[in-house]
Amino acid sequence: MSEIAAAGSTTPHLWVDRVTELDDHDIAELCEATDAAIIEGGGFGWIEPQGRAALERHFRGVLLVPERELFVARLDGMVVGSAQLVRPHRNNEAQAFAAQLTHAYIAPYGRGHGLARLMIQRVEEYAASLGHRVLNLDVRETQLTAISLFQALGYVRWGTHPVYARVRGQTVAGQYYYKLLEPGRGRRTGQMVP
Ligand SMILES: CC(C)(COP(=O)(O)OP(=O)(O)OC[C@H]1O[C@@H](n2cnc3c(N)ncnc32)[C@H](O)[C@@H]1OP(=O)(O)O)[C@@H](O)C(=O)NCCC(=O)NCCS
Repeated sequence: MSEIAAAGSTTPHLWVDRVTELDDHDIAELCEATDAAIIEGGGFGWIEPQGRAALERHFRGVLLVPERELFVARLDGMVVGSAQLVRPHRNNEAQAFAAQLTHAYIAPYGRGHGLARLMIQRVEEYAASLGHRVLNLDVRETQLTAISLFQALGYVRWGTHPVYARVRGQTVAGQYYYKLLEPGRGRRTGQMVP
C-alpha cells in the first residue's frame, strides 16, 4: 500500500508505505530518523537516542509482532518517519473494534511538508479496512504540534492523565484521544454510539 501525494520537479514527493520487511538501506534511514526525532524531543517512549543497533532490533521486532503494523514515511524516497498501528489481542473480543495509533513521528528534517498528516490518514484507512471503528492514541501534553495535528484531523480528547510520563525528572501529563472510523460498508459508526 503506498501513496504519492505530490509530484513535480520542485514539489517534494510524499510517500507512505505499510511495510512488512525493511532492507538494510531503509532500516538505516529509519533508525537515523528515529534518533533525530528523539534528540529533538521525541514524542514516543524513548528519551535518549538509542543508536542503530538498538533501534534496528526494535523495528525488526515490530515486524514480527502479529498485532503491530509499521508504516514508514518517505520524503523524496528517503525514510524520515514512521508510525505503528497496534491491534487488540485476539482474546480481547470486547474491544476488537478499536485499535491504537502509536509511535508516530517525523524527523525534524522531514517536517512541514504534510507527511505526518498523510501518514496518519493512511493508518486510519488501513485500520478501517481491517474493520476497526475506533482509533485511540495518547500523547504528552507538551507535544503541541502533534496535538494540533490530531485535533485538525478530528481526534476527540476524552481525558487527561496527570501522571503520564517522566521526562528528565519532570512529571508530564498526557492527553487521550479517540477518533471514530467509518467503514467502507455497513452501519455508520456514529449510529453505534449511545
Ligand atoms: C507532530 C509531527 C509528527 C508533525 O509532523 P509534520 O510532518 O511536520 O506534520 P505535517 O507537515 O503533516 O503537518 C500537519 C499538521 O500539523 C500541524 N502542524 C505542523 N507543524 C506545526 C507547527 N510547527 N506548529 C503548529 N502546528 C503544526 C498543522 O495542523 C499541520 O496542518 P497544516 O499544514 O494543514 O496547517 C512532528 O512534528 C513530530 O514528529 N513531532 C515529535 C513527535 C510527536 O510529537 N509525535 C506524536 C506523538 S506520538
